[in-house]
Amino acid sequence: MIVLLGPPGAGKSTVGRYLERFGWKFVSVGDLVREEMKKGTQLGQIFKSYVERGQYVPDDIIIPFVLSRVDERTILDGFPRTLAQAKAIEGKVHLVVYLDVSEEECVRRLSGRRVCPKCGRVYNIYTMPPKRDMLCDVCGVKLIQREDDREEVVRERFRVYMEKTAPLIEYYREQGLLVEVDANVPPEEECKRVEKVLREKGFL
Ligand code: AP5
Repeated sequence: MIVLLGPPGAGKSTVGRYLERFGWKFVSVGDLVREEMKKGTQLGQIFKSYVERGQYVPDDIIIPFVLSRVDERTILDGFPRTLAQAKAIEGKVHLVVYLDVSEEECVRRLSGRRVCPKCGRVYNIYTMPPKRDMLCDVCGVKLIQREDDREEVVRERFRVYMEKTAPLIEYYREQGLLVEVDANVPPEEECKRVEKVLREKGFL
């Protein structure tokens, strides 16, 4: 298992989708959560009440949800986000790639993010625009902005990240599993940097 770690907007999903071409299974926990919300299930409604406020879903709900959807050849985005979640996959993680990006850059990226409501493909009006006017390159569907990408929610997500997830950087560094990537670069360069790291470590 490879974990992509970083603040909201660090590019975890962009990098993870890029890496799928090398035969890894990419699991974005945020995407799974939003899928459940879209289906309108009871679980989805519980997720919604946290996500739209920029809060994490409680560990006792999210941990079993994620564990049943991952395996050895998974690249994980959005898990673990707390120490309890890290403990739940202890011994299964081979590498943690920390995407280091400043808060201001993350806020800028998230305010420009647009997503395809059908296939989930991610775009950015500043850095990765669709080929045709606000339509998904793959599905042709009109792109939307996520509810939680409004600036005040983004700031709250960042605050929660600093409190609950940032301590995992040290946790994984101490275990010798952490690799840091300076991700304050354009998307293509960020993906190439992570690819290079995975090649050097023998994962690709
Ligand atoms: P989730 O969707 O995982 O939110 P997140 O971690 O805040 O991550 P983002 O999707 O915002 O950012 P990203 O790093 O994937 O960036 P992206 O590649 O899209 O989770 C949503 C919510 O679900 C959470 O807030 C929580 O409530 C709940 N949840 C999920 N997991 C949970 C867990 N384990 N426990 C409890 N609750 C959980 O890129 C962002 C934008 O920038 C895009 O527009 C992209 O095109 C652009 N971009 C990407 N790279 C670059 C670059 N290098 N330069 C310029 N622009 C770039």
